[in-house]
Amino acid sequence: MGRFPDFVQIKEVGPRDGLQNEKKWISTEDKVTWIDMLSESGVREIEYTSFVSPKMIPALSDSRKVGKQIKRNPKVMYSALVPNRKGLEYALEAEIDGASIFMSASESHNLKNINKTIDATFPVLHDVVREAKNADKRVTGYISTVFACPYEGPISPEQVLKVCDKLLESGVDDLSLGDTIGTAVPTQVELLLEELLKRYPKEKLILHFHDTRGMAIANIMTAMHYGINRFDSTVGGLGGCPYAPGAAGNVATNDVLYLLHGLGINTGIKEKKIQDAGEYIQRKLEKTLPSRSLAYLANAQ
Ligand code: HMG
Ligand code: MG
Repeated sequence: MGRFPDFVQIKEVGPRDGLQNEKKWISTEDKVTWIDMLSESGVREIEYTSFVSPKMIPALSDSRKVGKQIKRNPKVMYSALVPNRKGLEYALEAEIDGASIFMSASESHNLKNINKTIDATFPVLHDVVREAKNADKRVTGYISTVFACPYEGPISPEQVLKVCDKLLESGVDDLSLGDTIGTAVPTQVELLLEELLKRYPKEKLILHFHDTRGMAIANIMTAMHYGINRFDSTVGGLGGCPYAPGAAGNVATNDVLYLLHGLGINTGIKEKKIQDAGEYIQRKLEKTLPSRSLAYLANAQ
């Protein structure tokens, strides 16, 4: 266990993981306004949409329009979720900077989410990685259900390592490990990281915590002791995977920033801008988002 990193890089995944699970349709114009607000927050990467089947994720079916309309801040990397060649084709047309491919460590979640077995997924993703690298794009490989699967229960680190090895062999630049249903406690994070860090440098790893049981902040603290300095989060704690029953939103960017800045760790992100973006999307969704920091500051005004 080491000291904290000086800088932590947050990837804002609200426009993708956050909105994909919402029943209320957010218009293209409102999505673009919101993403433009996030672009001015100091965040270095925004996962702004998904190029997936619109039947599976209707909330993001306007991804091609969104990609054309957002104002690009040259300091921000704009990435998007891509499941296959068709998705990559659309994503390249939309001039993404980075492609996020995705699969699960568990067979059942992989089947529900992308309609393929784990073995049948690798060739599809290898092809996407090769094409994305040919187009000079950064590629992140998401692995879901790294601690537990909503259908199979606990997942062993060995299962996760197998998928990590294959994705890294295919040429992804880094891996984002998803606690899809938010079950992990810090000792499980330690166990997995100890295995992963025997094989891969910490720079290759990003952690992606859903906050179903309020453990995400404790898990982030634990991961930082291992030198991990990249985390995914969503404004207000929006989010969830429609194919992972019971999963709550991601850890809230607002709460992560309160923690990191309080610890004296630099993120480059302005909390006020994230607060404004949180209040904006909360109004558009007509619901209260789970972030405690968002609620506290909204009520303090
Ligand atoms: P499939 O049905 O096996 O695919 O779905 P298919 O190739 O047979 O195509 C079926 C139809 O979809 C066809 O249209 C295709 O053209 C169309 P039809 O002929 O029926 O009209 N299609 C597409 N349309 C637009 N863009 C595409 C695309 N591909 C096919 N890219 C597929 C396979 C992977 C496409 C589907 O299962 C899918 O889109 N899944 C995505 C599900 C998803 O987005 N889940 C949430 C994201 S993952 C997540 O949240 C976890 C994460 O946050 C980490 C964590 O928390 O753990 C990343
Ligand atoms: Mg997720």
